[in-house]
Amino acid sequence: MKAVILAGGSGTRLYPVTIATNKHFLPIYNKPMIYYPLSLVMLLGIKDVMFIVNPEDLKDFQKLFGDGSHLGMNVQYRIQKKPNGLAEGLILAEDFIGNDNICYMLGDNVFFGHDLIKIMDQARKDIQENGGAYVFGYAVKDPERFGVVEFDEKGNVLSLEEKPEKPKSNFAVVGMYFYDREAVDIAKKIKPSDRGELEITSVNEEYLKRGKLKVKLLGRGFAWFDAGTHDSFLEAGEFVATIEKKTGLMIGCIEEIAYKNKWITREQLLKLAKPLGKTEYGRYLIEQAEGEQI
Ligand code: TTP
Repeated sequence: MKAVILAGGSGTRLYPVTIATNKHFLPIYNKPMIYYPLSLVMLLGIKDVMFIVNPEDLKDFQKLFGDGSHLGMNVQYRIQKKPNGLAEGLILAEDFIGNDNICYMLGDNVFFGHDLIKIMDQARKDIQENGGAYVFGYAVKDPERFGVVEFDEKGNVLSLEEKPEKPKSNFAVVGMYFYDREAVDIAKKIKPSDRGELEITSVNEEYLKRGKLKVKLLGRGFAWFDAGTHDSFLEAGEFVATIEKKTGLMIGCIEEIAYKNKWITREQLLKLAKPLGKTEYGRYLIEQAEGEQI
């Protein structure tokens, strides 16, 4: 499986903060926002990642991740000329995806929870074995901000709606999706919505029509933030700070994950820690490298 991470968009909900900078570089506590979705993909064992980026941000993404080899990964970039919607990334990444299945992530989503990786990994395996699409629902107070999924009593999906005025449930579809290769062809056929975007909900609706959409609900033991508004951005940062200070363990530390996945050696990890100097982050990497020697 490969991963495509959407890191373009206009970030208007974070104005004026994002007038001159891309939101994915903003800090969620102690690391750039984009580390969080990338870390999830890495925890799923996915080494091949393509970032969809705005033309003016390509250089900065390259500065941050290069070709990914320092993390033992293969990182590529594709420019999205305009924010034409979440589903356009599937079309732009067509040649990268090839005949593989895809983990499709939104670059401003932060997840945390017990067994999260286990649940995501089950979805990954399901798609690898049976094809189709897998999405996740999460109860929120303000479903009208999101794609919303409606169920019957048996848990079958009845409908999907993008930012509905009158939501039929309070379950938002979160920004991590698993698709088989068909998603590219489906994305090519969908029409822009009234707001002029190729909606990911339209792709999911097509899978629903074909009887190929699976949905799993993430319960109370999970935290999910769409960090694209001022409040949720702040909440996500506070959440990460609280957990990290309590546990002494980092959330979304990509170098640590690369090391624990055995994609890089101890020496490589120490080399990555060096330019970070005496920061907490740098010290943490050194601790990870030294920890296992004891
Ligand atoms: P959104 O938060 O829905 O859109 P946005 O980032 O443009 O922000 P705003 O609504 O405040 O103007 O996007 C979700 C994620 O997808 C985010 O990480 C940016 C990314 N994205 C793209 O890469 N391409 C796109 O065309 C769009 C719309 C979003």
